[in-house]
Amino acid sequence: MSSTTPNTIPTGSVTYYNRVLIRHLANHVGQVVELYGWLYNRRSSGKIHFLEIRDGSGLVQGVMGRNDVDEATFALADHTPQESAVKVSGTVSQHPKTGAVELHINGFEVLSQAGEYPISHKEHGVGFLMDNRHLWLRSSRQHAALTIRSELCLAIHQYFHQHGFVQVDAPIFTPNACEGTTNLFETAYFDDKAYLTQSGQLYMEAAAAAFGRVYCFGPTFRAEKSKTRRHLTEFWMVEPEMAYATLDDVMDVAEDFMVYLIGHVLTHCRPELATLERDVAKLEAIVKPFPRISYDEALELLKQHGSEEQQVPWGEDFGGDEETVISNQFDRPVFIHRYPTQCKAFYMKEDPTDPKKSLSVDMIGPEGYGELIGGGQREDDLAVLEQKIAAHGLPKEDFEWFLDVRRYGTFSHGGFGLGVERTVAWLCGLHHVRETIPFPRLLDRLKP
Ligand code: 4AD
Ligand code: MG
Repeated sequence: MSSTTPNTIPTGSVTYYNRVLIRHLANHVGQVVELYGWLYNRRSSGKIHFLEIRDGSGLVQGVMGRNDVDEATFALADHTPQESAVKVSGTVSQHPKTGAVELHINGFEVLSQAGEYPISHKEHGVGFLMDNRHLWLRSSRQHAALTIRSELCLAIHQYFHQHGFVQVDAPIFTPNACEGTTNLFETAYFDDKAYLTQSGQLYMEAAAAAFGRVYCFGPTFRAEKSKTRRHLTEFWMVEPEMAYATLDDVMDVAEDFMVYLIGHVLTHCRPELATLERDVAKLEAIVKPFPRISYDEALELLKQHGSEEQQVPWGEDFGGDEETVISNQFDRPVFIHRYPTQCKAFYMKEDPTDPKKSLSVDMIGPEGYGELIGGGQREDDLAVLEQKIAAHGLPKEDFEWFLDVRRYGTFSHGGFGLGVERTVAWLCGLHHVRETIPFPRLLDRLKP
């Protein structure tokens, strides 16, 4: 379990904190403890019951010998259904070589007997598990992935606070289409309409003029019609924005940030990565600098290594398959910069050496995880930005406030957005982003 959560139990005024957690059992070897949890799994040899107990903080094997408890308790433990709520007491022991902790049970009480639990320890189909997502969360792999997500979120906040960023929360209801008009979720807003935000960026640009270095971190929404392993309709994005930053600064920060995040997860989530059977050597190998190639160079790589269908005509964006071919040429994330202006959002600054190109950048993850980060340097010239808004068919009146950022002391600035779920999927080695968020929202799924 995570070692950022204190390894010793804070005692003092709040009695609840005096409860022993399974995560901390190694601190209680030789002691008698009492645990509150659920029965995760049960095996029996006739004379001994092996009862796996989970309490949310971890999982421990309990051993109950026939002579350790009275007959009725031994019989009860033999028939207690999976996921029943239990109170267990016993002595903690630790294997001298493996370090594995066990509980020698001498007290076992069923607080609430569970009905027949739908998720057994055999294989289930993904559709069934997703229908039971509210229960699936209790399974050890899901628990591990979501613990890593929690640690990643903590590391994200830590990184930005350590580097002088101020957290500025962006609104969820917005009149502005930040990332194009094709995947907007529209909602009634009293007598008007609003969109669920696609990105907090425009607000961060305004906030960067107030605070210099800012970030927002929250849910964002896109009506993605595509069913892929990388797309959710509701996903979490962290978006730093930096005053007086250039495209190179954006890449420097994104790279440093990513290395920090990986380091944090490797330091604090070893047991979870082991549960997920993640090949951690691949993560340990990731060091700065990350390769930086231009869009044009990426097209060349596709020519060399891609199939016929993967040849992208100049001007078009890459799809997931093309990103994978490109990223497979590297052992760490790769930056692709200076995409054609025509395939990027209206706010991207044009490359001063070639207006057909933009000062944009994507970070593509290794092992086929696709685009983890998208960002760039922003257009800071009022007249150019006004033209872009018109050219993209966006209603100027809704962007007047955003144009004010250019009217009153405009400044070079840039930033990026990191998708939390894709990053968790990569760090955990999970195939699909649906397992990286507690309650995923997908094209065909709004429940549970
Ligand atoms: O590249 P995107 O669209 O960039 C922006 O929204 C910028 N406004 C961010 C900024 O510069 N402040 O999205 C950023 C990242 C992607 O790289 C990807 O990781 C993730 O958000 N992402 C998604 N993740 C899951 N499901 C989706 N439908 C996603 N769309 C984007
Ligand atoms: Mg993008």
